[in-house]
Amino acid sequence: MPDDAPALLAEDLRKSYTLHGNRLDILRGAALRAAPGETLAIVGRSGAGKSTLLHVLGGLDKPQGGRVLIAGQDLYGISARRRTRLRAAKIGFVFQAYHLLPEMDLVENVMLPAMALGSLSRRRMRARAEALLECVGLADRRRHTPLELSGGEQQRAAIARALMNEPPLLLADEPTGNLDAKTGDAVLDLLFRLARERQTLLVMVTHAPATAARCDRTLTLEEGLLR
Ligand SMILES: Nc1ncnc2c1ncn2[C@@H]1O[C@H](COP(=O)(O)OP(=O)(O)O)[C@@H](O)[C@H]1O
Ligand SMILES: [Mg+2]
Repeated sequence: MPDDAPALLAEDLRKSYTLHGNRLDILRGAALRAAPGETLAIVGRSGAGKSTLLHVLGGLDKPQGGRVLIAGQDLYGISARRRTRLRAAKIGFVFQAYHLLPEMDLVENVMLPAMALGSLSRRRMRARAEALLECVGLADRRRHTPLELSGGEQQRAAIARALMNEPPLLLADEPTGNLDAKTGDAVLDLLFRLARERQTLLVMVTHAPATAARCDRTLTLEEGLLR
């Protein structure tokens, strides 16, 4: 892939939900193109469809129209089984609510995406998970389960998990939405630093103008379109 090929290309995305006979057109032709290593903020009012957009970009929710290419590969033009694999290999997700598994310790949580791919030995997975936990400052918490951690620590663990398979694309949906301002800033510093070090495309939904200002570009989702 040449360096200037988009890491992410989305064309004419269309997504509606029908609820109680009422059709809501959430995405109405949204499009975007982003290069490897870019940082992109997605803003828009509550209910505009930002989370829906991120799910569509991440292969979690099939749109009714349009397409998504991840490093040139058509995310919805392949079987659900291959999509699951492509997602595990190419896309890291960071959600507002962390979504760590409570019954597993941090090392096991961070290992999960690698287990989904199955391309590393268990021993190498563990070593990599421990190295990532060290990168996010949680080496001394690696045996803790998520509920034994603060919100900021849980989100740092979720970031480590998202990076486990070295994905070229990191999607983050209001990653500091549940954190106080100071903890949120520390989590953002970490996210930006890791994305930059790894040349990862970071697409982040945020409400905060100051956070958007730290990104290379800001796109607003409005009336189902990105502009
Ligand atoms: N699974 C669903 N079924 C029906 N409506 C949904 C579903 N998911 C989201 N919506 C609706 O789509 C709109 C956009 O939601 P969302 O993408 O979560 O917005 P945002 O993240 O910008 O706040 C909202 O009006 C929401 O109620
Ligand atoms: Mg949302």
